[in-house]
Amino acid sequence: MTIAQLEPLPLQHLRRGKVREVYIVDDDRLLLVATDRVSAFDVVMTEPIPYKGAVLTQITAWWLRQLEADVRHHMLSADVDEIIEAVPVLADHRAALVGRAMLCRRTEVFPIECVIRGYLSGSAWKEYSAQGTLAGESLAPGMRESERLDPPLFSPATKAESGHDENITVARVAETVGPDVATELERLSRFVYERGRSIAAPRGIIIADTKFEFGRDRAGNITLIDEVLTPDSSRFWPADHYAPGRSQPSFDKQPLRDYLDGERKAGRWNGDAPPPPLPETVVSATSARYLDAFRRITGLELDRTGLS
Ligand SMILES: Nc1ncnc2c1ncn2[C@@H]1O[C@H](COP(=O)(O)OP(=O)(O)OP(=O)(O)O)[C@@H](O)[C@H]1O
Ligand SMILES: [Mg+2]
Repeated sequence: MTIAQLEPLPLQHLRRGKVREVYIVDDDRLLLVATDRVSAFDVVMTEPIPYKGAVLTQITAWWLRQLEADVRHHMLSADVDEIIEAVPVLADHRAALVGRAMLCRRTEVFPIECVIRGYLSGSAWKEYSAQGTLAGESLAPGMRESERLDPPLFSPATKAESGHDENITVARVAETVGPDVATELERLSRFVYERGRSIAAPRGIIIADTKFEFGRDRAGNITLIDEVLTPDSSRFWPADHYAPGRSQPSFDKQPLRDYLDGERKAGRWNGDAPPPPLPETVVSATSARYLDAFRRITGLELDRTGLS
């Protein structure tokens, strides 16, 4: 089943993101469900992308298993049968949840987007090229767009409820969550990112930057939550096309972006919602990119049983 709008579940709906739906199971657990929605230029497309939700959830699950020995995380299960066993009211919704649902330990979320950048790109490149700084702190002069940053930059932002996140200094993080938590969030972000980029790069994907979220579980432990090192929370670049000094193509969304750029240039789309309809070729090319990202990173074929 390919899903843009998830059928109602017999759980309390907590929030709808651009891509995911969050439900409360009980005081200790949440259900995160990734739909097949895709956004580009901050606009959510009408057409769902086959397999995208399952790719996002199963990439996160794969990374969390790789990290398990070193990092406390929120995943309880990403297997639909285990989830139904744990939450039997979901039994009638198996087809909608297969592959895309993750049962998670519920936490109190720290209000910080822990962005970590291994390459100079996006809003960081914009600020650096204009002012030589990132979040007001100066960086070495003379760097080019998309240049590799060693060590990576911890570049936190506020978690804005609406509109764009605002870059903040590490000092502001310490004021918000306390110095000890701030230090730990930076350490964990660096650790997970370094592990991630060193696994992905030889497999043909550069993880240019990424965003982590952390929360505190009921026992008080700092816990890695949300999605982890997915194409939606990160910039994935094809390693074989990498060259500094220019922007890089996106591993997953480039066919979609190119199509939308064309529609804009032709005057058929103004860049706001509603988006233009996507041709089937763009939908299937995008789906293939997401499946390829999963395959390359994990070395496995996505289990498509029950998906279509
Ligand atoms: N274990 C957890 N405990 C508490 N909250 C969590 C946990 N894991 C994830 N969350 C929260 O779930 C929400 C996921 O919804 P979010 O709005 O980010 O969806 P999304 O599809 O990623 O959309 P967007 O593209 O708008 O970010 C986030 O607010 C995140 O902080
Ligand atoms: Mg999100």
